[in-house]
Amino acid sequence: MSATERQIVRLVRAAAPGEIKQTALLSRSTSSLQFTGLLSTSKHFEVASLESLVGIDLIVADKILVADGLITKEGLHGATLDAFLLSALSALNTGGVLVVREDLSSDASPRVTLPSLTDYVDVFRRDIAGKYVGFDFYCAEQVDSSIYLNGNYLDFVWILRKKEFTPPAADAATVTFRDFLDKTQYTNTGIGAYEWMFGKDFISPGGYDENIRVLEQFGGFKYGAKMLDIGSGIGGGVRQAAAVYGLQVTGVDLSANMLTEAIVRVHDEKDSRVNYSICDAVTYDFGENVYDYIFSRDCIQHITDQDALFKNIYKSLKPGGVILITMYGKGKGAWTEAFKKYNDQRFYHLQTLDEVKERAIKHGFEAVHVENMTERFREILTHERAHLEKEKVDFFKHYTQAEFDSLYNGWSAKLKYIEADNHNWNLFRARKPAH
Ligand SMILES: C[S@@+](CC[C@H](N)C(=O)[O-])C[C@H]1O[C@@H](n2cnc3c(N)ncnc32)[C@H](O)[C@@H]1O
Repeated sequence: MSATERQIVRLVRAAAPGEIKQTALLSRSTSSLQFTGLLSTSKHFEVASLESLVGIDLIVADKILVADGLITKEGLHGATLDAFLLSALSALNTGGVLVVREDLSSDASPRVTLPSLTDYVDVFRRDIAGKYVGFDFYCAEQVDSSIYLNGNYLDFVWILRKKEFTPPAADAATVTFRDFLDKTQYTNTGIGAYEWMFGKDFISPGGYDENIRVLEQFGGFKYGAKMLDIGSGIGGGVRQAAAVYGLQVTGVDLSANMLTEAIVRVHDEKDSRVNYSICDAVTYDFGENVYDYIFSRDCIQHITDQDALFKNIYKSLKPGGVILITMYGKGKGAWTEAFKKYNDQRFYHLQTLDEVKERAIKHGFEAVHVENMTERFREILTHERAHLEKEKVDFFKHYTQAEFDSLYNGWSAKLKYIEADNHNWNLFRARKPAH
């Protein structure tokens, strides 16, 4: 088996640990993926052949979407993509996996194709034989071999598990949490305006300089060691950790819009110390004892199941490894109506410093250090808001009055939440015991 086949098998096993008996490989090339010796595979040459299949545990569609016209120069071809996904859902057993492998390096606009295909497969749901089924999105991940051998950061595998869902309410605006992130806070325009505000490559307070200050709180790095960056956004922290400290960094983010931007930038830069996966940090299997460092800037307030997150990241940290997270948190003041509304709209899960510390200890971390950085947050917000006012002319070259108002009012509101000791900015650092 090739390294790419091993990578796919690892992802499939993580997404669906059950037994895989029946496999179908869709490919137009005889020299493509084979999975020799591992899977008893029936090979097919076109998407249409899926229609005749049933009872399948794994379908691998290897570079067939472009070849069969499901992705064209004009974008995704909805009708044929629908037919493909529908036949894949009909052919798969519940819990079975669809792997889509597609190299977007020749795509005219990977910035559009990557997030739109991810969105398409993530929200695709249909009634089939009396069941409302769709795909439980596990990840869209870069093919490692293509990065190392060809400097190609745009070769991807999507791992999708067939699942039965409850039909959504008629007025539901979004289908999954990823869909919610991409359609509300992290639209492409929203990301661009945020980046203007925070500084190049960052979607977090203080941009590049503040991130260096935060990384320094690790207390030094072993050159060439492995770091995981959770909620890596458009990749500023990942690229900084690689470029400044010489680390091998994996960035993960659930927002396809965010991570697409990070991936397209690294494809241009060709920094092979960096790789990415669009996935949920709570459910993705990072492996056991893999990372020397785990880092996360202002992501985990988005995550409801904090215990599942802590369990998952504890497992993936090497013994003796260090974790450092900054997060939006809550203070001790009674919540104002405005703060409640802000929190509800964002679906934030804000914790106090004490709650974070307790959880870290419960999950086995030692040398737990927590720090309230809200005063620094206030300084940064004040500085960033003043910069927005001063550089209005430049801002309006790229964005509208509505975006200006949203940022200006958002920053002003956060300063008020801080005054009421509602909104905090917290730091947590700890170690996994060496033995
Ligand atoms: C405020 S941004 C910070 C981005 C980046 N860390 C930076 O400093 O520029 C928070 C990020 O967390 C991501 N995120 C939210 N929930 C996530 C989850 N369950 N798994 C992975 N990433 C998630 C969001 O999509 C978003 O990109």
